Amino acid sequence: MMQTVRIADFAAHVGEEVRVLGWLHNKRSSGKLQFLIVRDGSGFAQGVMAKAAVPAPDWAAAEAAAQEATVELVGKVRADKRAPGGHELDVSAFALLHATQEFPITPKEHGTAFLMEHRHLWLRSQRQHAVIRVRHAVVKAVRDFLDEQGFTLVDTPIFTPAACEGTTTLFGVPYFDEGTAYLTQSGQLYNEATAAAHGKVYCFGPTFRAEKSKTRRHLTEFWMVEPEMAFAHLQDALELAQNLICFVVARVLETRAEELKTLERDVSKLANVRAPFPWLHYDDAMKLLHEKGSQTPHGSDFGGTDETLIAEAFDRPVVVHRFPAAIKAFYMEPDPERPDLSLSADILAPEGYGEIVGGGERISDAELLLKRLHEHGLPEESFRWYLDLRRFGSFPHAGFGMGIERVVTWICGLEHLRETIAFPRTLYRIYP
Ligand code: 4AD
Ligand code: MG
Repeated sequence: MMQTVRIADFAAHVGEEVRVLGWLHNKRSSGKLQFLIVRDGSGFAQGVMAKAAVPAPDWAAAEAAAQEATVELVGKVRADKRAPGGHELDVSAFALLHATQEFPITPKEHGTAFLMEHRHLWLRSQRQHAVIRVRHAVVKAVRDFLDEQGFTLVDTPIFTPAACEGTTTLFGVPYFDEGTAYLTQSGQLYNEATAAAHGKVYCFGPTFRAEKSKTRRHLTEFWMVEPEMAFAHLQDALELAQNLICFVVARVLETRAEELKTLERDVSKLANVRAPFPWLHYDDAMKLLHEKGSQTPHGSDFGGTDETLIAEAFDRPVVVHRFPAAIKAFYMEPDPERPDLSLSADILAPEGYGEIVGGGERISDAELLLKRLHEHGLPEESFRWYLDLRRFGSFPHAGFGMGIERVVTWICGLEHLRETIAFPRTLYRIYP
């Protein structure tokens, strides 16, 4: 039996005759030669088929095969520096396993709405394939980094009894006799409990926000990694975030160079992403914004344009810290020097990709926390367990959340977040 080889493994089979199982991505013909671009999931490669080198029925089958037909090719792997992926296949046999007709997504330009409607098929395209592979590398790098640093993965629940990041973006779900449950907006509160059990923890899972705004930076379902550390302060959390981002970018540059090339990403911009990142106090960020003509009043949160204005001033991610307590979540520890500010921070990606990380130090005093719950109109009853963490061995702790789709959008240099997740969920779309 001939060995079936994945295109990604061609390098180890140069000069050998192998079988490739996959789909016909594209083809062209010059009478006596057919050039068959096939994809097998691991990559794309060109099969060169000479009429004289294959049986007549094989030649005819290849001629009949349309885009996205399921195909089987046998041929000898040849190294070719000019070929995408570095190899070609000199085809000696061809079989049509499923004759596809009229694949909806053709090499011509399609509108986004059409592509989103056919997302299940669009995923096969070379660019989408590259994006999803970058995403996988990002996820793997995040896990490797945190695991190597001694963090314990503790998954947090998706059904939760209360809000974590504000009550305006909650998705309610009927939950038996318990009333309404909410899809998690963040695993942070649970991380704080597990940090008291394990010291350094992270959760990494889907996160839900009923974002009513239709922006290119928001999904209603996205993935967030959230590390949390006991006996840590704002500074510690941000150093961890900075090192994590540098590690992730370096790993993608190292292992996904081919994909970044497919995406025509300017990798020189990514090569700048090295520690230390610039740090900007909220007051200074506001000063910078006003110099640049922003009308956003001091004391409020940044808009998307503000984030871009700030990021433009730097060649790597920038940390903005000590936001006004009034515009941040209820759990933020106040700055002891200026209690109107919070020990919170955002990290903004360069090149206008906006906030990729949000985090800070948590209130460790039970009384202050209770006061904040009331101020934010949150139901004390649902947070009893959370208050317990301040009653039984309270400890300084800090952490952050990093949105995977935001990071992948930035690293890939994409226009919109929706391409970074296989099946995006947005305000107006839940199909396919
Ligand atoms: O800044 P956020 O809301 O922070 C939290 O949820 C904290 N509880 C995290 C923590 O400290 N453990 O969200 C964190 C990150 C953002 O910086 C952004 O990257 C991403 O999550 N994010 C979104 N990504 C896609 N679509 C949305 N609607 C997002 N909302 C937040
Ligand atoms: Mg935020």
